[in-house]
Amino acid sequence: MFTILMGILLLNPLNSFSQDSTKSNTLEMNKKDSIESKIDSLISIMTLKEKIGQLVLYNGSWDVTGPPSDVGNKEKFEKLKNGGVGAMLNVTSVAGTKELQSAVMKHSRLKIPLLFGYDVIHGYKTIFPIPLGESASWDLEAIKKSSAIAAKEATASGINWTFAPMVDISRDARWGRIMEGAGEDPFLGAKIAVARIQGFQGDDLADNTSLAACAKHFAAYGFAEGGRDYNTVSIGEYELHNTILPPFKAAAKAGVATMMSAFNEVDGIPATGHKELQRDILKDAWNWDGFIVSDWASISEMIFHGYAEDKIHAAERAIIAGNDMDMEGRAYEAGLEKLVKEGKVDEKLIDDAARRILKIKYDLGLFDDPYRYSDETREKNEIYTKENLEASRDVARKSIVLLKNDKDILPLKKDVKSIAVIGPLANDKDTPIGSWRAMATANSAVSLLEGIKTAVNKSVKISHAQGVALGTGERNFIKELAINREDTKGITEAVNIAKNAEVVILAIGEEAFQSGEGRSQVGIELTIPQQKLFEAVWEVNKNIVVVLMNGRPLAITNIAEKAPGIVETWHLGSESGNAIADVLFGDYNPSGKLPVSFPRDVGQIPIYYNAKNTGRPSNAEGLVFWSHYTDEKNEALFPFGHGLSYTTFQYKSLKISAPSFSSGGEITVSVTVTNTGKRKGKEVVQLYIRDLIGSLTRPIKELKGFELIELEPGKSKTVSFIINEETIQFYTADKKWEAEQGDFKVFVGGSSITELGVGFSFNK
Ligand code: BGC
Repeated sequence: MFTILMGILLLNPLNSFSQDSTKSNTLEMNKKDSIESKIDSLISIMTLKEKIGQLVLYNGSWDVTGPPSDVGNKEKFEKLKNGGVGAMLNVTSVAGTKELQSAVMKHSRLKIPLLFGYDVIHGYKTIFPIPLGESASWDLEAIKKSSAIAAKEATASGINWTFAPMVDISRDARWGRIMEGAGEDPFLGAKIAVARIQGFQGDDLADNTSLAACAKHFAAYGFAEGGRDYNTVSIGEYELHNTILPPFKAAAKAGVATMMSAFNEVDGIPATGHKELQRDILKDAWNWDGFIVSDWASISEMIFHGYAEDKIHAAERAIIAGNDMDMEGRAYEAGLEKLVKEGKVDEKLIDDAARRILKIKYDLGLFDDPYRYSDETREKNEIYTKENLEASRDVARKSIVLLKNDKDILPLKKDVKSIAVIGPLANDKDTPIGSWRAMATANSAVSLLEGIKTAVNKSVKISHAQGVALGTGERNFIKELAINREDTKGITEAVNIAKNAEVVILAIGEEAFQSGEGRSQVGIELTIPQQKLFEAVWEVNKNIVVVLMNGRPLAITNIAEKAPGIVETWHLGSESGNAIADVLFGDYNPSGKLPVSFPRDVGQIPIYYNAKNTGRPSNAEGLVFWSHYTDEKNEALFPFGHGLSYTTFQYKSLKISAPSFSSGGEITVSVTVTNTGKRKGKEVVQLYIRDLIGSLTRPIKELKGFELIELEPGKSKTVSFIINEETIQFYTADKKWEAEQGDFKVFVGGSSITELGVGFSFNK
């Protein structure tokens, strides 16, 4: 390595061994200036071809996460050696990354190190809950920690860039990728985006345990029409700014290193070619200095969108719009040189894109040591450790949401006489790993059955039957899934064991790959065989606890009416079964709250708590002419923010420090929360506001604050929230983020349907 490093130093005088990182502002500034001047010098000696090379991201063919490209490995390798590639994706392991990095270091003229990107979404090998599930914890520290562990494992294996977090807001359970985000709310989404970025990036990108993060998909990908992946998005300017952009803005402010553009079009313009979004808003208005990578081939897909004639035209549109790096699209390498030579693209745009990419490489410390993320010892010792698995179990149980608990059927006693553990997911060791599983080993999760067996006393009789199957074919990230929609033969066996058990635990829901990319569905109900299984078991034993495992909100209205206990466990990761058992048997008192509304019926979609009032919000006259469905309620089955505990919390003494405030001022809202039950428990205290009259119509409620508290039985805590101009700002009819004068209502409670409120006003 020494010779290689010397080589870099001799050939490129701009490299130098970095000074120690320091917290002091002056040193930070100096460091920034010194990186800037190194980039200036480097850019000045780069040929146009070499600069374009930095803008190219190739798939390593180890793993394919999109339609395979047409360039074979040999050709790719040659391009690498000639400085024609700036980054690779899906190349994992110390050996794999070293091999490619050394090709660049040995053969390319300027020896600019490669970035190695990978979808480290919810863990690398130790798997944490899927992001939607983890968001249900509302526990920012826990979320930050899981991202930090994922970063530690990935960087031990050569990776220095993750394509996460996905910060797309979505109100559509049909969209398979809803599992990858933080749900429906921009405020919660922004907080979680920042926690994940801080976890991945750590305090300093140059630390070899931190990764460059990537906020994606810019923008509005979660608003695909009909919930169909990659579909058209039509969204108004105000909705875009008020709902979609806040998590991206928070990510930019938190210093996310990169962002990824989206596959979809936004009102007629593909996001990847969208200048207003990328160059005007993200780079200019927000003054963000990271780089934008396209999504997989999304530059060349502008041809299919009908927005570009060919790859060359697509390259022109994308680079002008501000997209810096081409992921597997082959458009930049095909077109940029020609476009610059013909004067269609200003070389300054290429320089700017290359500079942004080089900056991240400097920030990551790659110019100091291109192999700093490829360390055999770390790879051997720091991945899938006992400690990481323990952390996964901890986040997993924090992510569980107790949806229903009639007559306190839960927690179960550990000396219950007999338990029938039934359902297609009861002993599934793979589904809990979920989609986007990075380097997880198939079938490596602790199944629910295993978790239960470990948790209960030896004397408990445990019986198990699958009942019905869920998926019938091979589980595969890239192939269509075969789902059992008919076979119910196993129900008889399940009914037999249910009859004789004191309690039934029924694990139903969705396969690992029923959600995720390319996995949209028109239905969000359980499969018919699973519904039949539930009905048959319920006929013989009413003591049922339903354990849901799923990547999207499910419409389980019939089951919710009957089953006394329902626990939402998402796809919880490596320690799933243990974490669920912790909750079922009361070793952990559940505290999760839904980050997304659960519809009663797929026909209610899009359904979200922060909706508008409409001009006909109620049926005061008892007539039909109000905004409603004639065959279903308007309300969600389980609303945003909902989640029960084994104890109860009472909210009282809601106080506001003053009835109004003016510009620059603030008021404080406080509420006393008391644990009125018999157990210690955690509660997410939520604060919502309603802006009564605005220059634009405003949502009936908007989350503006939350605090996770823990209380011993009988104890109280007064929780306070500050309300200032920032709390009530929005993107107004004047096309500015500002607070408008007027009357507001503030609500506090344990879910979005809280009615405990008080009014206040703001005067400019
Ligand atoms: C996805 C991205 C992902 C990329 C690389 C695309 O298909 O939309 O989210 O990061 O593939 O795997």
